[in-house]
Amino acid sequence: MDLNALTKLHYGVYILSSAADGKMSGQTTNSVMQVTSDPVQIAACVSKQNFTYELINKSGKFSISAISQEAPFKFIGNFGFKSGRNINKFENIEHYISNGIPVVTQHATAVFELELVQKIDLGTHEIFIGKVTEMKITDNSQTTMTYEHYHKVKGGLTPKNAPTFGK
Ligand SMILES: Cc1cc2nc3c(=O)[nH]c(=O)nc-3n(C[C@H](O)[C@H](O)[C@H](O)COP(=O)(O)O)c2cc1C
Repeated sequence: MDLNALTKLHYGVYILSSAADGKMSGQTTNSVMQVTSDPVQIAACVSKQNFTYELINKSGKFSISAISQEAPFKFIGNFGFKSGRNINKFENIEHYISNGIPVVTQHATAVFELELVQKIDLGTHEIFIGKVTEMKITDNSQTTMTYEHYHKVKGGLTPKNAPTFGK
């Protein structure tokens, strides 16, 4: 098997956020896709080790922000290489709170608010399927960053908690 074949799969770069018990977090996430249109449902694959995983399970709510190509590596790294267990990732980050859940607007091309409707257990990760309760374009002048752009142009790496770790 040639593991490099996995580099030919395309993804975007998103911030997936949630909150519960007075705490909030958000994680950089590439494994996001729309799965139905009526109702609009979106799936995301989340590591069981992430703080965001705990928060989504507790609150049953999350948000997704599609991140634009011009977002600096530092912004993506804030959400992708640190845990919200130890820091407030939203300090100095533009966001609003809706229905108790943070929604990142900084460097966002579009934002989605979701309620959790189903989970699929994959061992190390769970796929969360959310029904969209609100969505809007926040910046139509920018392109959403692809995972390939993140690697090839930003020079970014992927940590072990990402389902695509190693690629
Ligand atoms: C480019 C990139 C893509 C990532 N994709 C995912 C993903 O799809 N699923 C996931 O669970 N973690 C993914 N991660 C890892 C999480 O963002 C990371 O584990 C984060 O620190 C978790 O934060 P938390 O503990 O506050 O939830 C990704 C990280 C990067 C940098």
